[in-house]
Amino acid sequence: MDPVHRDFFEGGAGRERTLAANEEAFARRWLVPRVLRATGERDLRTTVAGTSLAAPVLVAPTAFHRLAHPEGEVATARGAAAAGTTMVVSMAATRPVEQIAAAGGTLWFQLYAQPDLDFTEYVVKRAESAGCRALVLTVDSPVFGRHERDLRNGFTDLPPGYACENMRDATGRVRSIAMDATAGWDRIAWLRGVTGLPILLKGILHPADARLAVEHGVAGVIVSNHGGRQLDGAVPTLDALPAVVEAVQGQLPVLLDGGVRGGTDVLIALALGARAVLVGRPVVRGLAAGGSAGVRQVLERLTTELDEALALAGARRPADLTPDAVVTR
Ligand code: FNR
Repeated sequence: MDPVHRDFFEGGAGRERTLAANEEAFARRWLVPRVLRATGERDLRTTVAGTSLAAPVLVAPTAFHRLAHPEGEVATARGAAAAGTTMVVSMAATRPVEQIAAAGGTLWFQLYAQPDLDFTEYVVKRAESAGCRALVLTVDSPVFGRHERDLRNGFTDLPPGYACENMRDATGRVRSIAMDATAGWDRIAWLRGVTGLPILLKGILHPADARLAVEHGVAGVIVSNHGGRQLDGAVPTLDALPAVVEAVQGQLPVLLDGGVRGGTDVLIALALGARAVLVGRPVVRGLAAGGSAGVRQVLERLTTELDEALALAGARRPADLTPDAVVTR
């Protein structure tokens, strides 16, 4: 991969403290397995916001896949479908959602609040028509994070010949993705007014915001710091998870992303109360290395590892896992 593009995918905001801390938070956790629990027949299935998942792992929304592989998000979607995994399509995808949907898998669609509400509604309708089953509103981005590697590399936008295909308006013009720092909680009610799709909020870290999410009737929250790409110094997601789980009192599913790199990481997140996890960079790496086959391999490897780790930890199903399966050191 072009090293400038690799820096875009791999990098984070500021001094990249949060980027590093997401993975370190998993390294501080240790599993305390149970034994003789008859874990012969395991069942990894779960449901989130009306979508059945073969395993509690989804593809996180990440931008610009054509910079990782010529087929871009179409290859990602094909790999995810082959692995039986739901993919969250980024608003900054470089293939149109209709083409991505033609790959055949289950899709959700990620949105940033845009200042132009009519245009936002147009994008939502397009995602809906393409068959996306839920909307993920990313709420950690009132402004763009400061990506020092990109600034150093002079990488400020997609190169010529590439576009955010889902930002095309009715006239065919591609709009730039704008962050809307004026958006407040009333944006949820507005969004519910224009779509019947379940809405999940991505980028919740504070338990008070998790409570507000419950009060605003969303279908789920994703504990995320955007893979360390927005507020540098933000708490690692695994450290934020227990308080968010506690705050929602079982009233909606809590998902997590950031630093999930193996099946035992998934297991730890599930034990601490996550219903499912999303993976970002590992999927992009699979895409860059091997197109749809690479994506499939990354995802299948994760679920196989999770299955084995469940058995070794003494659980048959994700729901059997409880916080006492994890200690922190
Ligand atoms: C992202 N992420 C992201 N999130 C989002 O809501 N919309 C987006 O367009 C993007 N774009 C994006 C690009 C790249 C290159 C990365 C690495 C990440 C954040 C993403 O959904 C997720 O929160 C993190 O990637 C999870 O962390 P890991 O798995 O990469 O550690």
